[in-house]
Amino acid sequence: MYVCVCHAVTERQIHHAVKHGAKTVKHLKESLGVGSECGKCVSCAKACLKAAHEEQHPSLVKSMIQLSPVQLGAV
Ligand code: FES
Repeated sequence: MYVCVCHAVTERQIHHAVKHGAKTVKHLKESLGVGSECGKCVSCAKACLKAAHEEQHPSLVKSMIQLSPVQLGAV
């Protein structure tokens, strides 16, 4: 599926970029041009980036989910 039509960037390319270190939409913009023309793809690119991170780093995402706020009086 195409995520960025302006630069013909696919979901697969975003997953590949994440595998090689992309962590933010800014990284995708620098490496693939995502969001650098009309910008309509940015929200879809964010969702794709998140899905790729969850798929490739499930333990990191799981540990982030397990974090919970602590009340200041409890510390
Ligand atoms: S669709 Fe990605 S910049 Fe236009």
